[in-house]
Amino acid sequence: MEVFKEGYSSFYDVLYREKDYAGECDFLEAVFKRYSKRPVASVLDLGCGTGGHTSLLAGRGYRVAGVDLSEAMLDAARRKAAEGGLDIDYRLGDIREVRLGERFDAVVAMFAVMGYQTGNDDVSAAIRTAREHLEPGGLFIFDVWFGPAVVAEGPLDKTLTLDDADGAITRTTKPVLNLMEQTVDVNFHVRRTRGGSVVEETRERHVMRFFFPEEIELLLEAGGFQTISICPFGEPDGETSPSTWNISVIARAGAR
Ligand SMILES: C[S@@+](CC[C@H](N)C(=O)[O-])C[C@H]1O[C@@H](n2cnc3c(N)ncnc32)[C@H](O)[C@@H]1O
Repeated sequence: MEVFKEGYSSFYDVLYREKDYAGECDFLEAVFKRYSKRPVASVLDLGCGTGGHTSLLAGRGYRVAGVDLSEAMLDAARRKAAEGGLDIDYRLGDIREVRLGERFDAVVAMFAVMGYQTGNDDVSAAIRTAREHLEPGGLFIFDVWFGPAVVAEGPLDKTLTLDDADGAITRTTKPVLNLMEQTVDVNFHVRRTRGGSVVEETRERHVMRFFFPEEIELLLEAGGFQTISICPFGEPDGETSPSTWNISVIARAGAR
């Protein structure tokens, strides 16, 4: 998976500086309280990236581990943990096969991580990883793009411009919908400009899968999970509809 290389990763925390990681951790904690059959004291973050959730959860007192395939994203996560004096077990690894040799009370994969697992084998392998790191009754929480909305609305070109210390960062996103593969090729082009001149730029193509509710339930069931809820992203009491682009999925590990 040739994504989140050094160039794109170096822009990541700026591009998502408005993302409400604290609110998303509030959502996770509300889900732990409502649905977990066991007290949640430890969390494994699959595809932890630069540690947006892991660092906040560790700061809130959870024992936390994070796995990611991108060395550059993990470097940023480790820097953040060191700055905050946080003890987080970060590991370089592929969520389709990594085994930490320990169990957690909850496993999360936040911000479309499961969408990067494009084939059924990839998705099933990542679900197996989640199951292997949970005791029966533990929760697996992730979010993905919702197929009905992607098909009904289609992905749109977007441009995001942000002020930087002494210039600007512009990201253009050009998506290509592959209906038969259930994926979108998301073509990112990020440029840093100073005084109108481009001083740094990077391009990446992210192939993202979108999911339909019935297949989510089937894939989870085959991997030893019961689907508890499919709701709009971060809204446990909300109703999904064909205009819900991002969904949160909450699943509970069954007996072995
Ligand atoms: C959109 S980022 C989300 C990062 C973080 N969870 C957040 O919310 O900011 C997706 C992350 O998933 C990681 N990822 C995707 N597929 C992976 C895999 N098979 N194994 C490990 N990491 C993976 C990428 O490297 C990237 O850091």
